[in-house]
Amino acid sequence: MAVQYDLKEQKRAYAKWAPVYDAVYVKLLADAQRKAAHAAASCGPNILEVGVGTGLVLPYYPAHCHVTGIDLSFDMLKKAVEKKTERRLRQVGLLASMDACALGFADASFDAITVPFVITLVPDPEGALDEMRRVLKPGGEIIIASKLGADAGPAMHVESMLAPLVKKVGWSIAFKASRLSNWAATHPDMKVMDISPVFPAGFFKMARIKKAR
Ligand SMILES: C[S@@+](CC[C@H](N)C(=O)[O-])C[C@H]1O[C@@H](n2cnc3c(N)ncnc32)[C@H](O)[C@@H]1O
Repeated sequence: MAVQYDLKEQKRAYAKWAPVYDAVYVKLLADAQRKAAHAAASCGPNILEVGVGTGLVLPYYPAHCHVTGIDLSFDMLKKAVEKKTERRLRQVGLLASMDACALGFADASFDAITVPFVITLVPDPEGALDEMRRVLKPGGEIIIASKLGADAGPAMHVESMLAPLVKKVGWSIAFKASRLSNWAATHPDMKVMDISPVFPAGFFKMARIKKAR
């Protein structure tokens, strides 16, 4: 039986974020967003962005792509629709309200799925990854950009020391990178290809998870 979550709180939070989100995050997230969009485009033209928000990533997809965006929050989506119109982003198609854990698309619909700064917010990230795997074509990739906490070594110790400071600015180290590899390990057709540091100074990471052909 599917687990039910109360997503109203998430929607309320992003209704407040929508008017100021771009001003706060446009520079901080740009490197990861641009890299995620380009990595997705290298897999093929049909791309799904999960948690498209205000559409900050949309201009980074090359013109030959066909990008579909979904998000829980109408307020964030409204900004994405405005961006698509104002900037004439022809690579952007459907922008729709949807939960990452219940994607209304047929199996094997997309060449790549981008998940920029979203996975740590989803109450059931493994459930969302299951859905992404379902709608991803064989040979395609799920590309995740996020604050992914280190699992071991000096990076983990530094992060643990800085955790209270990081929390003060609204980020958490609680979602470890191993959560992605543990999920992939339960699916023989899914493999974590790479987890690499991105701006600023590796604070964020980009993970590429590939589905076998
Ligand atoms: C931090 S913003 C990231 C927006 C955009 N991807 C970016 O990089 O600027 C997180 C977005 O994820 C959306 N979100 C959170 N949980 C979600 C879920 N379960 N399904 C779909 N979208 C979700 C929020 O509404 C919000 O717009």
